[in-house]
Amino acid sequence: MTAKQHPVTTAFDTTASETGESSGAVRAEGTAEAAAAVDLVHVGKVFAAGAVTALSDISLTIAAGEFVSLIGPSGCGKSTLLRIVADLEQPSSGSVTVHGKSAERARKDQDYGIAFQQAGLLDWRTVAANVELPMELHRVPKAERRARSAELLEMAGLTDFAKRYPAELSGGMQQRVAIARALARKPSLLLMDEPFGALDEMTRERMQAELLRIAGETGAAVLFVTHSIPEAVFLSDRVVVMSARPGRVTDIVPTGGQGRDPDPDQDVRSSPVFFDAVAAVRAALRGDHGDGPVAGRDLR
Ligand SMILES: Nc1ncnc2c1ncn2[C@@H]1O[C@H](COP(=O)(O)OP(=O)(O)OP(=O)(O)O)[C@@H](O)[C@H]1O
Ligand SMILES: [Mg+2]
Repeated sequence: MTAKQHPVTTAFDTTASETGESSGAVRAEGTAEAAAAVDLVHVGKVFAAGAVTALSDISLTIAAGEFVSLIGPSGCGKSTLLRIVADLEQPSSGSVTVHGKSAERARKDQDYGIAFQQAGLLDWRTVAANVELPMELHRVPKAERRARSAELLEMAGLTDFAKRYPAELSGGMQQRVAIARALARKPSLLLMDEPFGALDEMTRERMQAELLRIAGETGAAVLFVTHSIPEAVFLSDRVVVMSARPGRVTDIVPTGGQGRDPDPDQDVRSSPVFFDAVAAVRAALRGDHGDGPVAGRDLR
């Protein structure tokens, strides 16, 4: 029932009509299990007393366990949309539910982990203590906290830095700590805003694989913002393409979760299916709506 079963498709399958298709498919009335991870219905956002319309009529449902990326030009409202889901910003119109609850309730229940553009670490806590913070807030016993933070820091390649302070780390390392912290409580929803932007290519690929592994193991849904088309295609079940301000959803490209369970004998990123999906997202970003064949098969 999740989009994990979406077939891998090409540009020909991308239609703007899918945009609002599933909104409200699973509504708040259901049980927590049955509810979508995120349900946005006609969400709009106007900043500064009407001066900036950041988002217009966004309807989107993210199923439990689904990985959805948002991609679109700078300033089209991707971060704003994530902040609305996280209840850090209020929508001017429309409604938001997270696991069938209000966004406020979900925030208070810590139903999600967040990793945003800025790492947002607490300078006075060590790396390990930053990762342990969400667990401390939930009174996870000390031994369990220690074990989990050690495991996460190993995943992030930061074991040797556990006792250091954020100011002693590079920007990319700080970002890796923030990602480890977001994963600490195995949240059922992860909200990630360009979390890998500051990482070198090899670390980025390792973190992408780890993120998919952890999301797969915990069944977490992920709403992920990126400017990288290959990253979006590798990670996602569906890629949501947004237009320039005011941000709207113009296309939803099913990309089939290609990075999940990769064939060890094949490099997913060099397969024709991967190139086709990248071309489909590029075409959608350019504003082609699948009326004709997609020219070329390049990754940029
Ligand atoms: N607190 C705010 N007050 C006023 N305007 C804001 C505020 N936050 C965002 N905006 C405006 O809303 C629009 C969308 O901003 P947002 O940060 O969501 O874009 P984005 O898609 O995340 O861009 P980028 O890819 O550069 O990160 C921009 O025009 C921005 O100036
Ligand atoms: Mg942003």
